[in-house]
Amino acid sequence: MYFDTHAHYDDEAFDADRRELLSTMPKKGVELIINPGCDYDSSAAAIAMAEKYPHVYAAVGFHPEELTKLESDSLEKIAILARHPKCVAIGEIGLDYYWDDSHKDEQKALFKAQLELALQLDKPVIIHDREAHADCMEIVFVYPELKGVFHCYSGSAEMAKELLKRGWYLGFDGPITYKNARKAIEVLEICPLDRILVETDSPYLSPVPRRGKRNDSTNLQYIIEKLAEIKGLSPELAAAQTLENGKKLFNIT
Ligand code: NI
Repeated sequence: MYFDTHAHYDDEAFDADRRELLSTMPKKGVELIINPGCDYDSSAAAIAMAEKYPHVYAAVGFHPEELTKLESDSLEKIAILARHPKCVAIGEIGLDYYWDDSHKDEQKALFKAQLELALQLDKPVIIHDREAHADCMEIVFVYPELKGVFHCYSGSAEMAKELLKRGWYLGFDGPITYKNARKAIEVLEICPLDRILVETDSPYLSPVPRRGKRNDSTNLQYIIEKLAEIKGLSPELAAAQTLENGKKLFNIT
C-alpha cells in the first residue's frame, strides 16, 4: 500500500472526476494521501476533502507563489484551519526564486511566520524550495526543533547530508524516473531508507511512462519502482517503508 505524501486534488484539473478518483484510491493501493494547501482557499478545500475521505489528510499553508494573494488576516485564518484534527502539517510553504526573485524579503517573512506557526502547534512542515536552497537551509536551521520534509527535493547531495543530519525527510517525485535525474538519484543513494518520502505532486510531474499526462496518486507505483531499483530492494518493501516513514513524520496512526 502506498502513501502519497503530496498531491493537489483541489486543483481544477480534477474538477470532472475528483470524487470518483479519490473514493477509489484505497482499492487501487493508495492507503493515504496528504493534500497540501497553497493559499487560504486551497487550504480550506484540503480540509474539506480530509473531512470527506478517511484516507485523505490535509496540510495548510501559503505557498510563496501565492504571495500576491496574501491579506492581512490570511495567516490568522490559516492558523484556525491548522487546528483541525485532520491537518497533519503546515505546507506547502517555502521560497521560490525561480518564479519570482524580486520579492525575496516578503517570501522569507511569510515562510518564517509559518515555520513559527508549525512550532507553536507542534506540527511538521512541508517545504517548497525552488532555486532557493541556501536561503531555505539558513532559515530552517534557525529553528532546530522543526521537523518536516523538503518536498520534491532538488538540492545537492551535500545539502541533503546537512538536512539529514538534522532529522529532515526528503520527498521524491516523478522526476526521479526522468532521463536527466542524475542529481536526484545521487541524493537517493545517500539518503537512508527511513528518511525517504514518496509523493506525486499531482496533477503535475507525472512519472515516466505517464509523463505529460495528468498525474494522480496511482502513478506512485512508478516512483516506488524506481526507488526500489536504486536502493536494491523489492517494490513491496519500498512501498511499506515509505508508508511507515510518512505515518511517523505526520503522526498518523
Ligand atoms: Ni505541491
